[in-house]
Amino acid sequence: MDTPKRYTVTAALPYANGPIHLGHLAGVYVPADVYVRYLRQKGRDVIFICGSDEHGVPITIKARREGITPQQVVDKYNAIIRDSFAEFGISFDNYSRTSAPIHHKTASEFFRKMYDAGQFVEQESEQYYDPEAKQFLADRYITGTCPRCGAEGAYGDQCEKCGSTLSPSELIDPKSALSGATPILKKTKHWYLPLQQYESWLRQWILEGHKADWKPNVYGQVKSWLDDGLRPRAVTRDLDWGIPVPVEGAEGKVLYVWFDAPIGYISSTKEWAEREGKDWEPYWKSADTKLVHFIGKDNIVFHCIIFPAMLRAHGEYILPDNVPANEFLNLEGNKLSTSRNWAVWLDQYLVDFPGKQDVLRYALIATAPETKDNDFTWRDFQNRNNSELVAILGNFVNRVMVLTHKYYGGVVPSSQHLNEADREVLDQMRKYPSILGDSIEKYRFREALSEMMNLARLGNKYLADNEPWKTQKTDPERTEAVMYTAVQIAGALATLCEPFLPFAAAALAKMLDIRPLTWDEVAQAQSIVPSGHRLGQPALLFEKIEDAPIEAQLKRLEDSRLANIAAEKAAEPQKETVSYDEFDRMDIRVGTIVEAEKVPKAKKLLKLTIDTGIDRRTVVSGIAESFSAEEVVGRQVCVLVNLAPREIKGILSNGMILMTEHPDGRLEFVAPSRKVKEGAQVR
Ligand code: MF3
Ligand code: ZN
Repeated sequence: MDTPKRYTVTAALPYANGPIHLGHLAGVYVPADVYVRYLRQKGRDVIFICGSDEHGVPITIKARREGITPQQVVDKYNAIIRDSFAEFGISFDNYSRTSAPIHHKTASEFFRKMYDAGQFVEQESEQYYDPEAKQFLADRYITGTCPRCGAEGAYGDQCEKCGSTLSPSELIDPKSALSGATPILKKTKHWYLPLQQYESWLRQWILEGHKADWKPNVYGQVKSWLDDGLRPRAVTRDLDWGIPVPVEGAEGKVLYVWFDAPIGYISSTKEWAEREGKDWEPYWKSADTKLVHFIGKDNIVFHCIIFPAMLRAHGEYILPDNVPANEFLNLEGNKLSTSRNWAVWLDQYLVDFPGKQDVLRYALIATAPETKDNDFTWRDFQNRNNSELVAILGNFVNRVMVLTHKYYGGVVPSSQHLNEADREVLDQMRKYPSILGDSIEKYRFREALSEMMNLARLGNKYLADNEPWKTQKTDPERTEAVMYTAVQIAGALATLCEPFLPFAAAALAKMLDIRPLTWDEVAQAQSIVPSGHRLGQPALLFEKIEDAPIEAQLKRLEDSRLANIAAEKAAEPQKETVSYDEFDRMDIRVGTIVEAEKVPKAKKLLKLTIDTGIDRRTVVSGIAESFSAEEVVGRQVCVLVNLAPREIKGILSNGMILMTEHPDGRLEFVAPSRKVKEGAQVR
């Protein structure tokens, strides 16, 4: 497309059934925000549209589990999500919700128009029905034994144990998750979008029209869907949460969430236009509008095949010019998972790293999964902060500020004595807006970010090469020229870092006491921060992140990992019954470890001396892989004191210490919860 007249940029509507985590930010919202902020800097007419996706079965399941209504669920998470976005500077022009009346109306009319034009196929099929709860069951509401791996508790659409995709009819011994009843098959009518009719059009539009400009991961997925052949897709559901199907004889049916949600982009645009006194239609209906959908890879089929087919069928709308979907971001080597609590929650991040939104934005852009899955690690986060933001960008700005204050009382010196080399550096600087812009317009945000840092590197190198701290005494004119030039680079950075680091950009502009120039002005202006202008006060843009907070994050993940292993491990079956007398024959006492040493040539064994209240005795115990000799001295333990003595590695062991085990095999003492007297009996 030649330069478009306006841009409609959307970011996937997040489900309002949980807070958002760093995977969401990295994959969708930060890249979209970078793109939009850049376009605004370029003075383009752009709207950035999003909202909460508030329908669908998972929301009803969550509500049931928590004993609240679906509306309460979405009210809660819509607020949390909205806050997180605002905190991280995601600069939507409008953030709506699919429960809003304007959306219900828009989606209903959209369906109705297609319905009236005969664009759906009506079809009856047999679906599982809960005779006790008297309702049809969504796939997620049916559980049973997995036909592939035999695990119990598999869902009608998927077994979470082995990861197989299932259909409810495959489940062995299916049960309704609502009532526990065995579901029966019952006839029900639904409306289908005959996707196969759009196949050749889609092939032409995407496979031929967008081979060159769509990302290979997106193009590849679309191609494989098309090569597999498209089938009709039901766009209605038997459910009591959603937008009622606006057709007679459709009582108890709602629009499928994936039918209504993308229409949410349109309703959110209408909401924006109403508020701003603008016309929404050109943003969705003019051929000179560029529509771009930012999404994660699990949404590709909906945005590249189904929604475009809907838009085309409806007839009045433009199609996306691009769908720059990202792959997934992993966390410390594992897939992000809400249920396994393997995530960095944004609300928690702000508690742990207050004011450091830009650091996360930076780390996420730098490791964005643009072409393949990528891994976020806390060490990388720390390094990016310490050795890039602090050491390169922060350091450059700080040197410029401090030296200008020191030499000139904060007033930008004269540009009269610039030499060839200085002009050369300023020319190089003026190229950065277009270097960054080229990358951003191709959705290569990592590349753009590293170019932005290259400008800061250029600044640092320039200072290091010209050493104003040396020339200040010998050659004041030279120093003025160098400092003038360095201040210009700092001024350019205030503009060019803004799409990535909006908070730092504002802080930098404040420090320089300038209104930052626009993107194009940076490329053209004679001077960015003119001679004679007085800078504000220096302040640190970024601060070093020490090891302790990073280790705290790693510890939190470690705790999740242990909890997950524990949750997966079934308890050992109970042993055979014993009589009370049999139990009573065991004499278990509380004792205190008074001495401990490693048993030579035995990596598991500690030789302990224990005060049992009866005597001091030696017990050899296999705990050396979990505890050091030093740390166990002084601990109270439970000892089976009348166990027959046994020789272990040549040492006579007289008793046994009671231990239990963590899921990962680490041992733990079984001990009284408060100190008791040695010799106290355990019964
Ligand atoms: N809620 C969906 C998800 O989180 C995304 C919906 S995008 C929309 O995966 F286009 F449907 F809005
Ligand atoms: Zn399975």
